[in-house]
Amino acid sequence: MLNLIIFGPPGAGKGTQAKLIAKEYGLTHLSSGNFLREEVVSNSELGQKIKKYQDEGILVPNELLTNLLKNIIKKKFNAQGFIFDGYPRSIQQTHILADILKENNLQLTGAINLKIGEEEALKRLLLRGKTSGRSDDNEKVIKNRFRVYHQETGPILEYYQEQKKLINIDGEKTIKQVATNIKEEIKKL
Ligand code: AP5
Ligand code: MG
Repeated sequence: MLNLIIFGPPGAGKGTQAKLIAKEYGLTHLSSGNFLREEVVSNSELGQKIKKYQDEGILVPNELLTNLLKNIIKKKFNAQGFIFDGYPRSIQQTHILADILKENNLQLTGAINLKIGEEEALKRLLLRGKTSGRSDDNEKVIKNRFRVYHQETGPILEYYQEQKKLINIDGEKTIKQVATNIKEEIKKL
């Protein structure tokens, strides 16, 4: 069983690589951004609340998110394992995830950190914004997402480093090269 986390700043390629890794190893891809967006599209009361946070590029509060996550994990349980994309994103969420894994008798195998500079990430997201339809793919909100990443998400790298789970990958290479480098690291786990 392989239970992974992939993180990195907005535009680092988390979704792109998570999809490839999930396919390669038969894992369930769990993207918090995606399931939150699905809730928004459903236009439920919860979705309407979530939308305000996503539109501004700030973190959706845990009280709106944790139950959704737990339900999705239950529904999509897969004996081969998971790859979490975009979760956890704060110190508090690392503890929530640790509890969820424990409740389900699961262990984290590794945490992949895609490293990328803001200039390259901005370029990718502005390009994607032309066709993505994502309300947060515009320069103002992208800059806010970077700020939130540095303040709230960056500090959790140390947490996984201390647990010797952190795998740093250069996210500025081509999609194919990044995927190859991740696979090389997974082989060592
Ligand atoms: P989320 O959906 O997770 O967005 P994000 O973290 O800002 O990251 P992106 O999805 O934009 O980028 P990515 O790293 O997945 O890159 P991608 O592969 O798409 O979160 C959105 C919002 O939801 C948050 O702001 C928050 O409000 C809420 N949220 C989500 N999780 C939450 C949580 N845990 N707690 C609270 N709130 C939460 O690639 C980007 C582009 O670049 C694509 O066009 C791709 O084709 C291209 N690309 C990828 N790799 C390469 C490469 N190597 N070379 C060239 N182009 C590339
Ligand atoms: Mg993504």
